[in-house]
Amino acid sequence: MKSVFITGATTNTGLGIAHKFAKEGYAVFIGSRSGEHAKETAEIIKEKYSVFSKGYDMIVGDENNVNSIFNDIASLGYPVDAVVLNAANLGICQEFLTVDIKDFAEVINTNICWNFMITRAAAKQMIKKGGGSVVFVNSNTAYRAIPDRIAYSASKSGALGMMRALAFDLGKYNIRVNAVLPGMIKTDRWEKNYNNCREALSNYTPLGDIASFEDIANAVWYFASDNSLNTTGAELVVDGGNMIQLYPIIPEK
Ligand SMILES: NC(=O)c1ccc[n+]([C@@H]2O[C@H](COP(=O)([O-])OP(=O)(O)OC[C@H]3O[C@@H](n4cnc5c(N)ncnc54)[C@H](OP(=O)(O)O)[C@@H]3O)[C@@H](O)[C@H]2O)c1
Repeated sequence: MKSVFITGATTNTGLGIAHKFAKEGYAVFIGSRSGEHAKETAEIIKEKYSVFSKGYDMIVGDENNVNSIFNDIASLGYPVDAVVLNAANLGICQEFLTVDIKDFAEVINTNICWNFMITRAAAKQMIKKGGGSVVFVNSNTAYRAIPDRIAYSASKSGALGMMRALAFDLGKYNIRVNAVLPGMIKTDRWEKNYNNCREALSNYTPLGDIASFEDIANAVWYFASDNSLNTTGAELVVDGGNMIQLYPIIPEK
């Protein structure tokens, strides 16, 4: 049985990704800052899909914690075939003139350094297996700015650079490294944001809608599965065409 480790997989997009891999028959390992939620989610996955699943308590930025998780996964007999780096520090409301540099640095540390540690621990197992796939859940904010999110945007752009550099260095081990770039996703955050989502922003995309969890999970699955065996260092934008626009076409009422 193939296996995947997914960060931030107890809710929203990460949970959608966990369901997709379980449906495809993968053993699913779930990382969360809440070990309790991770365990509950793993139980649900196990029950629903009859695959092996286990949840882990993650300490952000702690390499010993990361290594002990991957050692446990290996000792259970499921060294990973894929890792999905979904969790992110969203760095919301970080106003340029007032943001505490510690908060700024924490976003970079989480979205870049922590993902590096997780990739390294996973890659060591993949090297022994003869290959694997690393998928970053990035963002179209790697290319397009949004207000008061300087650290977040910088971290997502940096993570794209890291993705390409990892793809280069890990290619010789048959480890592929790619990134999915969502635009807006229908999380509870957006669902509740009626004015900005349902009545406006989704309509501003050429396709007239924003992504579901399944849309993102399918894109992640493409990179993780045998459908993309000759693809590495690549980006797949899933944003309803939002990013190709010079300016959004605002529908007339
Ligand atoms: N939602 C969107 O519109 C959108 C758009 C573009 C890109 N994305 C990207 O898609 C991915 C998933 O997005 P989402 O909206 O589904 O995410 P989310 O639920 O807001 O966050 C994903 C997970 O990240 C973990 N997390 C949250 N804050 C964190 C922090 N400060 N430090 C470490 N981990 C933290 C949480 O997992 P635990 O609580 O279990 O640890 C959370 O469930 C992210 O990488 C995000 O940047 C989202």
